[in-house]
Amino acid sequence: MVIRHSQWHRNCSQRMTRSMTTCKNMQRMYGNPFMLYMFSRTVKSRLFSDIQQIHHLVCFEQQVQDVHLRPRSSNVEPDSWAVTTKALHTGITSVQYYDAIIVSNGHYTTPFIPSIPGLAEFHKQHPHHISHSKHFRRPEDFRNKTVLTVGTGPSGSDIASQIAKYATPPLLYSSRSHDSSSTAPFPDAKAVPAIAAFLPDNRTVRFADESESPPLDAVVFCTGYLYTYPFLRSLSFPTPSSTTTDATPLLPYPEDRLITTGQRVRNVYKHIFYAPHPSLAFLVLPWNIVPFPLAEVQSAVIARVWSGRLSLPSLEDMRAWERQETAKKGDGKEFHRLPGGEDVEYIQMLGRWCSEAEKMDGDEGGEVGKEPFVWGKKEAWVRSKVGEIKKAFFARGDARKDVRTLEELGFVYDDSVQT
Ligand SMILES: Cc1cc2nc3c(=O)[nH]c(=O)nc-3n(C[C@H](O)[C@H](O)[C@H](O)COP(=O)(O)OP(=O)(O)OC[C@H]3O[C@@H](n4cnc5c(N)ncnc54)[C@H](O)[C@@H]3O)c2cc1C
Ligand SMILES: NC(=O)c1ccc[n+]([C@@H]2O[C@H](COP(=O)([O-])OP(=O)(O)OC[C@H]3O[C@@H](n4cnc5c(N)ncnc54)[C@H](OP(=O)(O)O)[C@@H]3O)[C@@H](O)[C@H]2O)c1
Repeated sequence: MVIRHSQWHRNCSQRMTRSMTTCKNMQRMYGNPFMLYMFSRTVKSRLFSDIQQIHHLVCFEQQVQDVHLRPRSSNVEPDSWAVTTKALHTGITSVQYYDAIIVSNGHYTTPFIPSIPGLAEFHKQHPHHISHSKHFRRPEDFRNKTVLTVGTGPSGSDIASQIAKYATPPLLYSSRSHDSSSTAPFPDAKAVPAIAAFLPDNRTVRFADESESPPLDAVVFCTGYLYTYPFLRSLSFPTPSSTTTDATPLLPYPEDRLITTGQRVRNVYKHIFYAPHPSLAFLVLPWNIVPFPLAEVQSAVIARVWSGRLSLPSLEDMRAWERQETAKKGDGKEFHRLPGGEDVEYIQMLGRWCSEAEKMDGDEGGEVGKEPFVWGKKEAWVRSKVGEIKKAFFARGDARKDVRTLEELGFVYDDSVQT
């Protein structure tokens, strides 16, 4: 595990209330003195204090460089995964073998910048003008600059609203869904359409409605990230990794590939299991979700499948699930998106799946094993009100620091009314 510097910039707080962000291990955060929305630094310090319990099991500052399947050498042995790691302090690499692998390297590391005519030439003529939200740290860096931000996802709206306070007004706020009648959702900003082309000689851009920007000092792409697994080259390209000596081609079939464009991960059943070889699993591929409870319930499923207490469908059935999903959501970024309460259904579906597991051996009729925190009706209700809650919270101004519960904001859950 490599702990890297946080991408959560200085002023970043959670987008979701405390009760929704926690998982079973973190439930003591309920009803405690923390703010309703915790600062990212609070979450981080809680995570680091939790990790103390398993500190002795974690290898820190080890970069995973290659993971590939080593097929069994006899009928009695199972396949194993060869993992090449590099110790970052010494540079020494070593290979170890594992029965199963959980990949949880995150997917907010490799910035995605769309291909737009003139972009490369603009960058060549005006180096340091183009950046990505991944590298945003301080809005003050944009003081008195003419700035264009691209993308209106969480990063785009968050970063643009901060930069607008310092930039030369108006900050240009570009989205492919904006038209000429759109207004920006915060002061000192102007909504503009998608960029049709960069015009390097003028230091400007032409928008989709043919209008042209003023000369720009900074363009910040807030256009998201790509799924990347550089250490799983053997599953992602037509030829297997050549960096390890015992690399055996796993993928004679192109349809088994994990990554092609980076917009989604392929061949992952229920966003978790690599269908051709389910001893490889992934955590938190979905987005538009709340990561901690989702990771916890996915982990509970993985543990039950790998210990033989739950079984997976056949490869053909797992592929059929993927075909159905691509028919609904397409073959791109939407594939892993769980919008508008779909994450509630997903967490509940995984919770039900866990509860079907055979009991483990135990004294009194067996034990169920570690149970995840599965969202119930109240959490589903809170999830549906996220936008309203956040608005009410920020409407409190500086006094929001004192808000501890949803009820204080006027959101009272009534089990007899909300179904
Ligand atoms: C700007 C920003 C703000 C966000 N704000 C929020 C928020 O307010 N609330 C919220 O719930 N979520 C937020 N998120 C989303 C949240 O960060 C992710 O959902 C969450 O971090 C996913 O956790 P993870 O453990 O899967 O991945 P990560 O947190 O990305 O962790 C992956 C880890 O794997 C390590 N790693 C990667 N490659 C290798 C390798 N080859 N070898 C060894 N180690 C490796 C990395 O160093 C890292 O430590 C935000 C994301 C961004 C980008
Ligand atoms: N405070 C916080 O909690 C916080 C802050 C920042 C980020 N985050 C998290 O970080 C993660 C990443 O968020 P993100 O905002 O960086 O990425 P994102 O959610 O993927 O949003 C990307 C944005 O770029 C736009 N875009 C993509 N391709 C484009 C193209 N070719 N041309 C023009 N626009 C394009 C998208 O437009 P469309 O909508 O039209 O596709 C979208 O508005 C999320 O999980 C988010 O929750 C959280």
